[in-house]
Amino acid sequence: MVFACSTSSLLTDMDLIKWFTLLMILLNFFAAKPIFSYSNSFTSKFLDLAKEPNVVDWMVDIRRKIHENPELGYEEFETSELIRSELRKLGISYKHPVGVTGVIGYIGTGKSPFVALRADMDALSMQELVEWEHKSKVPGKMHACGHDAHVAMLLGAAKILKEHEKELLGTVVLVFQPAEEGGAGAKKILDTGVLDNVSAIFGLHVASNLPLGEVASRSGPIAAGSGFFEAIISGKGGHAAIPQLSIDPIVAASNVIVSLQHIVSREADPLDSLVVTVGKFHGGGALNVIPDSVTIGGTFRALSKESLIQTRQRIEQIITGQAAVQRCNATVSFLDEEKPLSPPTVNNADLHEYFRSVAGSVLGINKLKVMQPLMASEDFAFYQEVIPGYFFTVGMENASVERLESAHSPYYKVNEDVFPYGAALHASLASNYLLKLHEGVPVVEGKYNDEL
Ligand SMILES: *[C@@H]1O[C@H](CO)[C@@H](O)[C@H](O)[C@H]1NC(C)=O
Ligand SMILES: *[C@@H]1O[C@H](CO)[C@@H](O)[C@H](O)[C@H]1NC(C)=O
Ligand SMILES: *[C@@H]1O[C@H](CO)[C@@H](O)[C@H](O)[C@H]1NC(C)=O
Ligand SMILES: [Zn+2]
Ligand SMILES: [Zn+2]
Repeated sequence: MVFACSTSSLLTDMDLIKWFTLLMILLNFFAAKPIFSYSNSFTSKFLDLAKEPNVVDWMVDIRRKIHENPELGYEEFETSELIRSELRKLGISYKHPVGVTGVIGYIGTGKSPFVALRADMDALSMQELVEWEHKSKVPGKMHACGHDAHVAMLLGAAKILKEHEKELLGTVVLVFQPAEEGGAGAKKILDTGVLDNVSAIFGLHVASNLPLGEVASRSGPIAAGSGFFEAIISGKGGHAAIPQLSIDPIVAASNVIVSLQHIVSREADPLDSLVVTVGKFHGGGALNVIPDSVTIGGTFRALSKESLIQTRQRIEQIITGQAAVQRCNATVSFLDEEKPLSPPTVNNADLHEYFRSVAGSVLGINKLKVMQPLMASEDFAFYQEVIPGYFFTVGMENASVERLESAHSPYYKVNEDVFPYGAALHASLASNYLLKLHEGVPVVEGKYNDEL
């Protein structure tokens, strides 16, 4: 009886709520402020659409095909063809090739304003060790960073947006880019000029250690900028027992490496994150010979472009200076052709507010988490140097099923339940952004990134 009684009082409350909601809608209507109700209906509708079994199955199918046939940076020919064939089926026009294998799709009016959504397409050169039906069929290549999932989710967003094309107040630009993993594919796309008139760009990455249905990100630096170096330290080879007739590059290189450690420990602001790692040391071979030269190399990471450039200068000075102390000569290369300096990924502060409002209405405000910056790097940074940009992570952990290995592990797995969230967030961020611009609401004020 208690139950029935409370139910009936609940009903009364429900009626009240209904009337109140109706009143609010009417007030909103007469106050001529359609943004609030419009954007909310847009976003909740998109998540429901993205969760429809036919959309989910379609995304899963695409992702598994790409997973079975991983392709490395600038070799994503079949992945690119698969994307184009799906775009054709959806009736979405595109440009190709853009940056070797890249595909740029267009949904909406075909006119300004333009807002871009980005997915990366490349795999890694490593052997998949997960045994499952759709395991990589290419020995030594694997989608171990979720880029197969990123493509599937952007296609999911494309499908949803295409169904609502008439409501779009501008053009959504779909960016399927090559070579994120160290190949600066984003820069290659930018260099073609296809994104010249884009007002804002959004990108996402799946996250193994964040619960499903949650997103994490932050304003400002979210991932580090990175650079690489290699140095040849030359001395004079000779007999190990007659050191006075040689100039030992092994001892010189060892001193260089110790001195490099002082950039982080003694020169950097302890609150400004920095990494200098020497990962390569090649020299000598015989146990009784002092070699002529030694090659060392490594990487450096920083959360601001200023620190990155400063670190690069100091690495060069320390290697040549410390080698000279040991009577050796050194030549330093920063591999600008093969591994160009990648800037830090810095989220625009205004877009952070915008993201919170949209993602909050798609997922619920309690699903938005603050992310610590990572010292890994993400080439989305190249877009952010020239276009206001925002990068976030989408959780795929379902603790009741299994723990997921982190990216770049040979045991890496994607939880495909994440797809509707990624697709709906992409679609909502783009469509609402066009709406805001149409309403004349400036989302981004002033310069994009003061830091860059
Ligand atoms: C960008 O806008 C300018 C000026 O309207 C136009 O000339 C140019 O073709 C546009 N570029 C792209 C890639 O749409
Ligand atoms: C270093 O370079 C100078 C100038 O080229 C040369 O004279 C000297 O022999 C070199 N020293 C070593 C250890 O290679
Ligand atoms: C986690 O997985 C279980 C089993 O498949 C499922 O019932 C549950 O809904 C999933 N959790 C979320 C948040 O989707
Ligand atoms: Zn990666
Ligand atoms: Zn990645």
